[in-house]
Amino acid sequence: MCGIVGYIGTQAATEILLSGLEKLEYRGYDSAGIATIWEGEVNCVRAKGKLHNLRSKLEQLENPAQIGIGHTRWATHGKPEEYNAHPHLDTALRIAVVQNGIVENYRELREDLKQKGHQFRSETDTEVIPHLIAELLKNPDLNFLDAVRQAANQLEGGFAIAVISADYPDELIVVRQQAPLVIGFGQGEFFCASDTPAIVAYTRAVLPLENGEIARLTPLGVEIYNFAGERLKKQPRMLNLSPTMVEKQGFKHFMLKEIYEQPGVVRANLEAYFHNSTDASVSPINLGLSESLYADLEQIHIVACGTSWHAALVGKHLLEQLAEIPTQVHYASEYRYAPSPLTPNTLIIGVTQSGETADTLAALAMEKERRQGQEAKYQARLLGITNRPESSLGHMVPNIISTLAGIEIGVAATKTFIAQLMAFYALALDLAARRQTIPKETVEQIINGLRQIPQEIEETLASQERLTEHLAHEFADTQDFIFLGRGINFPIALEGALKLKEISYIHAEGYPAGEMKHGPIALLDAKVPVVAIAVPGNVYEKVISNAQEAKARDSRLIGVTPVKDGEAAEIFNDLLPVSSVDELLSPILTVVPLQLLAYHIAARRGLDVDQPRNLAKSVTVE
Ligand code: F6R
Repeated sequence: MCGIVGYIGTQAATEILLSGLEKLEYRGYDSAGIATIWEGEVNCVRAKGKLHNLRSKLEQLENPAQIGIGHTRWATHGKPEEYNAHPHLDTALRIAVVQNGIVENYRELREDLKQKGHQFRSETDTEVIPHLIAELLKNPDLNFLDAVRQAANQLEGGFAIAVISADYPDELIVVRQQAPLVIGFGQGEFFCASDTPAIVAYTRAVLPLENGEIARLTPLGVEIYNFAGERLKKQPRMLNLSPTMVEKQGFKHFMLKEIYEQPGVVRANLEAYFHNSTDASVSPINLGLSESLYADLEQIHIVACGTSWHAALVGKHLLEQLAEIPTQVHYASEYRYAPSPLTPNTLIIGVTQSGETADTLAALAMEKERRQGQEAKYQARLLGITNRPESSLGHMVPNIISTLAGIEIGVAATKTFIAQLMAFYALALDLAARRQTIPKETVEQIINGLRQIPQEIEETLASQERLTEHLAHEFADTQDFIFLGRGINFPIALEGALKLKEISYIHAEGYPAGEMKHGPIALLDAKVPVVAIAVPGNVYEKVISNAQEAKARDSRLIGVTPVKDGEAAEIFNDLLPVSSVDELLSPILTVVPLQLLAYHIAARRGLDVDQPRNLAKSVTVE
């Protein structure tokens, strides 16, 4: 989604803004622009497409300005054209604004401002903001900060804004209302950004703004206010993120680097949350959640989108099979408008790696609101699973499981997915141990199995890299793929298909293997490869016979399986072997070859693996 960067200080702003925007490229965008103040004028340069287009336009200009704002735009209102790119200016070209989010009441505001003589140049919702500020500044009693604050009070929706004005060349004003915005503190220089990677090269002292807060950044310091104009006291904190974490470190793409970081992510989660308990009454898992979350728990609802929704499906399997708690998984975008009937003693879990996905946040907010004022047992018990505990989700829910994957730059989620799976193993085992739904020895056995996983992923990566790269060559012209899995590996079939379509633009579908014969089998022929996840256990034989049905329709059959014997070799045309593993733990391993396969197919096609078309890393609009 859109990215915001701002700078005020003693260095030339343009390069700082551009390098900040480059660090936000991963969020997805289709145009970009920056505005600075130099010689009493706003200088605004914008370009459609990638940042190098903007960079080459800026190279032709000498601009030592020490204040500026920059933006990468992911189109919502209005086409991805230069005239819709941010920053947007008022009629007199004195005020420049960048925005991330949506101004819902922009039509009314625009009509009103047009009547007052303001001239609009774009189709965007954002453009109302500079005009509105200019209108308010006609009142001589208002200063720049007052005018931005009053404008913010009139805007409906969720947004983060950065504003500069040629008439106030020493002030950069930022506003946060339901879209992320962080302030960075340097020596005599200050930054703002919609995400920390944009400023981590310059400072690690940061202050994330809360909803309903406005900050005035000057070369002398930062002042924070609420929307009522009251001054707030806040201290920055040190960020646990180094500039090298946002570099590729020798890998061709961030996605490949992040796939290789997965063993470390599993180790970090094991270390943080899994302990050896000798006392039978105590859970060996310590997630640091409030005790009230566990008491008399009867049901769980999980809301999520995309890959996080797939992790939630694995979570449902674990929570039901290990902890025996009825669990439903909902698309956040659907749940908000058609929630399940209110049930007592229900835990609501929001899963979002970014912690900023608008659909997931809105579903959680709706659930919180409709349970308010109900008798105690109906009140919301909210838990967030996120890789960004400092995110909007972190502010919204009282309990968080932080998934410890480190920052993920590739748009296609990989290591954050595996980290979400670890969170669900931890939660399900914690609940199972507390409720004694499985023997203590079984809990320990599962934990011991999890401890082997990092090494097993390493082995899988070592054996798969070449295999998947080689196999990718064979699919140069393939247009459709089918992924099959059953039981706990059905969500992995969905995830394998999503990874492939996101980055290679090949049409792919994931199905529960047993469903194929009820319709999708009509799609199969020699041109449609089928990937089957077949792990010995509850459903192994069933998956094998479903796979054979595909082979009988001439599909090329690729097996993701730990079985290397003659039977597997006979059934599958190609094997993507994983280490031998208990079926219950297998999703953490079986997803790895599917990530690699998607990666190599896309890389071989020469596609932009880390920034696939039309996609954004955090989807902050509904
Ligand atoms: C898939 C992907 C998206 C996200 C989805 C939810 O690779 O990146 O499908 O999973 O947009 O994002 P979060 O987890 O940030 O809520």
